[in-house]
Amino acid sequence: MLCIITYVSLVVINLIGKNILVFDELDSTNNFVKMNVSNLDNGTIIVAKKQTDGRGQRSNKWLSKEGNLYFSIVLKEGINRDSIFKNIIRSSVAIIRTLDSFGIDASIKYPNDCLVGKKKISGVLIESHGSSKLEYIVIGIGINVNQLDFDDLNNKATSMKLCLKRNLNIIDVLNVFVENCENILDINSELLFKEYISKSVVINKSIIYKADEFVIKGIEQDGTIIIKNKLREQRVAYSDISLKEFY
Ligand code: BTN
Repeated sequence: MLCIITYVSLVVINLIGKNILVFDELDSTNNFVKMNVSNLDNGTIIVAKKQTDGRGQRSNKWLSKEGNLYFSIVLKEGINRDSIFKNIIRSSVAIIRTLDSFGIDASIKYPNDCLVGKKKISGVLIESHGSSKLEYIVIGIGINVNQLDFDDLNNKATSMKLCLKRNLNIIDVLNVFVENCENILDINSELLFKEYISKSVVINKSIIYKADEFVIKGIEQDGTIIIKNKLREQRVAYSDISLKEFY
């Protein structure tokens, strides 16, 4: 497979994005990380200008035409099972702040889709490896940057270009994201969680869970969601719930 690797120079970066490898094409940036993890430093970002087998949550495909931003971040140090939801929070807030820097007001659909209005602009696929001790986490992020037509998904998806009516350079968007990640690393987890909740669109919305209707009452810092109806209140792990009805 032919790949062109470019090192992108950035502002002073300590961890996330200190190394950035940009490929013309990959099957999936998450797959690339998994195959090459032993050769990648902690915090390395892998970017593909297009993906031939981009993957989304719940085994969905993530169609990855050229023009959008597709990248994965590898984390190998200081990680444990709790890190997964922490990174859901971090990546969601970093995406929201990045969009905000470009003048786009987005919200978070639990756990980590970013929406503009009711349309999805970004998705995150976090994968981990290791049983008793986590060996690494891959945070795969897709941001719709320049796509204008989403075919059957036109009423469910949008892009930065559709919002701003202008073309954007994907590496400029990535650089803003990397800066936001660095800033976020300095914020304490309580404050970051507050910011995540303040951008969340699901609190007090009703959902169907296991064929019953519930209202979402809250989200806890470990990602547990609290749902309630007339009969009962229940706590559900983030991995056990899918909030499709919000977009
Ligand atoms: C979702 O379903 O919302 C998650 C989409 C995640 C897509 C990104 S694009 C970069 C990385 N590589 C992949 O194959 N998937 C993620």
